[in-house]
Amino acid sequence: MKKVVLTGDRPTGNLHLGHLVGSLQSRVELQHCYDQYVMIADVQALTDYFGNPQKVIDNVLEVVADYIAVGIDPQLTTIFIQSQIPAIPELTAYYMNLTSISRLERNPTVKNEIAQKNFGESVPVGFFCYPVSQVSDITAFKAELIPVGEDQLPMIELSNEIVRRFNRLYNTDCLKESKAYLSNVGRLVGIDGKAKASKSLNNAIFLSDSSKIIKEKVYSMFTDPGHTKVSDSGKVEGNVVFAYLDAFYEEKDEISSLKERYQRGGLGDMVLKALLNDVLQKKIQPIREKREALSKKYLLEICFEGTKKANSVAQNTLFEVKKAIGINYFDI
Ligand code: TRP
Repeated sequence: MKKVVLTGDRPTGNLHLGHLVGSLQSRVELQHCYDQYVMIADVQALTDYFGNPQKVIDNVLEVVADYIAVGIDPQLTTIFIQSQIPAIPELTAYYMNLTSISRLERNPTVKNEIAQKNFGESVPVGFFCYPVSQVSDITAFKAELIPVGEDQLPMIELSNEIVRRFNRLYNTDCLKESKAYLSNVGRLVGIDGKAKASKSLNNAIFLSDSSKIIKEKVYSMFTDPGHTKVSDSGKVEGNVVFAYLDAFYEEKDEISSLKERYQRGGLGDMVLKALLNDVLQKKIQPIREKREALSKKYLLEICFEGTKKANSVAQNTLFEVKKAIGINYFDI
């Protein structure tokens, strides 16, 4: 039996190059060695967008299109929609007994989010409990490997605590502990050089961007403000064009020599940007074309089939969990 790998994305926007290096490429590889589940976390997204569900709804198939376009294969990966798995909120009901408000308050990711969202004294319960729901996402599928960024480590720690507590308390081994699988590629910086690439900061290049937009974004990238003349010596560190070449250009020796020339002086930003534009156009064009050829009907079918399979696995775990607690009244 192959180990189960599970990840998820909140469907709040199209995926971009940051997702490609941070998670999508590794999913394309992992699907060959593991039993991989990828969840469209629409319920989790609604903890932010409950007042504007259309934003979440509209992005579900967009994200699935991005998955298929980059090579996530629905024959190898189970793609499913969180809101259609009733076992997840049911498991959450039992897990909520096994953690405390103060434990959830200590989660640094949640703490940051609470500070950013200006909730004041009225943090919604749904938002506050999403990490518990995430424990259900993980355990429903007995996932052992969770490919995520560092901000998700506290969620996995919580999951393992609840798993150990559940198994000990109800004298069972039906739940499995999981491990984070941190991708070794660092986060991709945004084109402004200020922060990681993100939709909300409007500093990302999307997999669905047209060739014209890609070019505009590349030519607007932050480089070295001190490098005003071609003959000036330039900084490589913090230079977004080099960060993207490092992430997407295969010719590593050429990158080294370009860096050297840039630092020495005599290499202009325009030459580098033209090269990067070329590299990114070649990378994104086939993805965009594949994306555009996908019909809504086909994408829905993928979700339907994946969700059906995911439901059967999650129901089975829920059955074991209820049996371990002893609330399986009608089994005889
Ligand atoms: N919290 C994750 C994010 O914001 C998405 C997510 C939901 C997830 N459930 C998950 C990731 C389960 C891994 C496993 O990116």
